[in-house]
Amino acid sequence: MSDRIYLDHNATTPLHPAVSDEMARVLRDVYGNPSSTHAEGAAARRVVDTAREQMAALLSVAPREVTFTAGATEANNTALLGIEGDGPVIASSVEHPSIEAPLVWLEERGRRVVRLGVDEAGLLDQDALERILEESPTLVTIIWANNETGVVQPMGEIAERVKARGVPLHVDATQAVGKAPVDLSRVPADLLSLSAHKFNGPKGIGCLVVRGDVECAPRALGGPQERRFRGGTENVAGIAGLGVAAQLAMDGLDARIPQYAGLRDRLWKGLEGAIPDLRRNGDPEAVLCNTLSVEFRGVAGDILVQSLDLEGLAVSAGAACHSGSIHPSHVLTAMGRSPEQALGCLRLSVGLGIDEAQVDRAVAIIAEQVAKVRALDAPR
Ligand SMILES: Cc1ncc(COP(=O)(O)O)c(C=O)c1O
Repeated sequence: MSDRIYLDHNATTPLHPAVSDEMARVLRDVYGNPSSTHAEGAAARRVVDTAREQMAALLSVAPREVTFTAGATEANNTALLGIEGDGPVIASSVEHPSIEAPLVWLEERGRRVVRLGVDEAGLLDQDALERILEESPTLVTIIWANNETGVVQPMGEIAERVKARGVPLHVDATQAVGKAPVDLSRVPADLLSLSAHKFNGPKGIGCLVVRGDVECAPRALGGPQERRFRGGTENVAGIAGLGVAAQLAMDGLDARIPQYAGLRDRLWKGLEGAIPDLRRNGDPEAVLCNTLSVEFRGVAGDILVQSLDLEGLAVSAGAACHSGSIHPSHVLTAMGRSPEQALGCLRLSVGLGIDEAQVDRAVAIIAEQVAKVRALDAPR
């Protein structure tokens, strides 16, 4: 795999070596159950407590406000299904499926769900938000940074608006953490979800933050763990990995943002210079430092993904596969792209280990493959 170029860091990221070292140490040496009162249990409890402090420090929240989950999907489901009330639930129209599916579940049970539109650049319609807030919703949930386009919502402004009406706000910060400042001392969100594997931590671990006096019902009963909010023996090694990843995300952020943005901009300039008929998706001023979403007119994104893969380049398409058929991304169509345009999009995302030479090679591979695919489709 060493020659391959991995530009799909929004799907998942490689483990940082400091994370895998700590996880290996915990798996090997710290085998106690954190709920046990003997020394082995206490050692495991210390690992969990340390990680909780590291996680809390990254987000500027109190450690007791952090609940470890099996990732952002569980955290999103817990937030959406755990907040009680019968008012409408408000979301954007560009949420991740782990938000969208619980919204549909609520709708099927009679709840009113309102999905707010976004503009061509992917930014939330805040006038519509302001209007719907007059209807006393039970919860507002907004994705902080979009997984497909990288568009970052002005979450400070959104949170201030929602807070001013006393409505709880949940943010899905899964893509934002580690790539943008996510500081809840500045953004007054009440609930926040994330997943460690999006910022060089392990898969299958994440957390839900529930702030202050917000009431959220538990989703997993059956043990004293996580203040009885999420029963079940803790994934101690995963939690340790999450803690180290959180520490690294915090320590390196100021250097990482310009570094990733430099690589992303080099990628875009290279592609623009080498391939005609491209369009960039999302507001370039409000996009994650690592993400580039591009429409290659007249090219089927899923075919391009496969041909790039054969050439050693991993990227993803602006489409989702459901039951064997390809559907255009709901995120891109919400931004006004036609289904054909959405199907011609690729998401390229840089991250740990990517350098300029790899970016330049990726540009050359993409240019060659796009020319081939377009030549095949050109009228003869
Ligand atoms: C914005 C967003 N939310 C939630 C998730 C779900 O994360 P996980 O699969 O780790 O539970 C993802 C993963 O792609 C994501 O990008």
